[in-house]
Amino acid sequence: MTVNDQPTYNPGKGEGSPVGVALLGHGTVGSEVFRLLRENSDEFTHRVGGPLEIKGVAVGDVAKHRGSVDEDLLTTDAMGLIRRDDVDIVVEVIGGIDYPRELVLAALRAGKSVVTANKALVAAHSAELAEAADAAKVDLYFEAAVAAAIPVVGPLRRSLAGDRVESVAGIVNGTTNFILDAMDATGASYDDMLAEATRLGYAEADPTADVEGHDAASKAAILASLAFHTRVTYEDVHCEGISSITARDIEAARSAGYTIKLLAICERITGDDGVTKVSARVHPTLVPRDHPLASVTKSFNAVFVEAEAAGRLMFYGNGAGGSPTASAVLGDLVGAARNKVHGGRAPGESTYANLPVAQFGEVTTRYHVDMEVEDRVGVLADVSRVFSDAGISLRTVRQEESGDAARLVVMTHSAREADLSETVETLKKLDAVKTVNSVLRLEGE
Ligand code: HSE
Repeated sequence: MTVNDQPTYNPGKGEGSPVGVALLGHGTVGSEVFRLLRENSDEFTHRVGGPLEIKGVAVGDVAKHRGSVDEDLLTTDAMGLIRRDDVDIVVEVIGGIDYPRELVLAALRAGKSVVTANKALVAAHSAELAEAADAAKVDLYFEAAVAAAIPVVGPLRRSLAGDRVESVAGIVNGTTNFILDAMDATGASYDDMLAEATRLGYAEADPTADVEGHDAASKAAILASLAFHTRVTYEDVHCEGISSITARDIEAARSAGYTIKLLAICERITGDDGVTKVSARVHPTLVPRDHPLASVTKSFNAVFVEAEAAGRLMFYGNGAGGSPTASAVLGDLVGAARNKVHGGRAPGESTYANLPVAQFGEVTTRYHVDMEVEDRVGVLADVSRVFSDAGISLRTVRQEESGDAARLVVMTHSAREADLSETVETLKKLDAVKTVNSVLRLEGE
């Protein structure tokens, strides 16, 4: 029995005009969007208020997709498909920046609403995309661009529109979470766990965008823009990846009661001058093992939001993959199609607060500094003096013998990033310090 055979709560609501959809891309995500749209077309008709009709699927090579898509829908002429009169909504799941930018802008300028899963495009070109959508009075949806299936763009744009978001901290990259979690669980090295992630299909052949934090930085830019009603682009995000994290870092974190996660952290900061700014950063971070983000294992994602009235919220789930990403794309597609059938528009870009973006040096956090030092009288005093000269207060100091040297692990109270990095440069020049093994930041306490 199909949905059409059953009584509905909104009889007649599926009788609106058809909504024509152009699908740009038929890879991992596009093929799932296509399959789910086909399989559940009756349900979509009811949810939208009119039938969703796929008018064409633009691909790079038609021969590769024959068999999985009707021959008459396949085309290599994406621009021609976008401009067809019977296309109302364009779904972009190609990836990359320059070519999709051209297509998405053409679609918006032609008065078509756009649904995209492309975080790099949105994070780099939000201003021009939003302007084109506004000028044509159409929608631009991008829920799938951040953490795939996890609803976070919608909640920030709509559900929390009456609140004041203070901070957003997210594990928004599944590949790096898989690697760090596996290092934590097994004690293995970064290289071994990257190889495992590649073998299991989490990491791509070129894992740079994931492991160096670029993918998470695009998502951080989008989250910060939404949370703080301020335009934040990829270029504004301080970005460090996980490739320098060692088994020793993981073990040091574990023995102090922490786990290491690659976090995208977006926050409002107010400096001594009273000026409030927005900061967005991505870096490996020590998180207390009892913090909700510490329990996010394997390739899962989670976004932790703190808002003035709502308090703490956490959104958790699958942040990558064909079906989870298609779920978010289809949710957006239903929203855009409903607006076509019933009228109205999705919330557009909101940048009214227009806060300045903080330099990374202005950020305040706590630190975990791991050093090899000489094992002799007065070393601890020399090292602590460097911190105290910079006005940085020490919270804990742990020392253990390591051959003819000693390993010193210092945790600080809150300090400014600029002061801490200057301190580290001074420590590196100190006779007593043989090497600074790592400097990691701590959040979530
Ligand atoms: N490669 C990303 C991840 C998914 O590992 O989470 C797409 O942004």
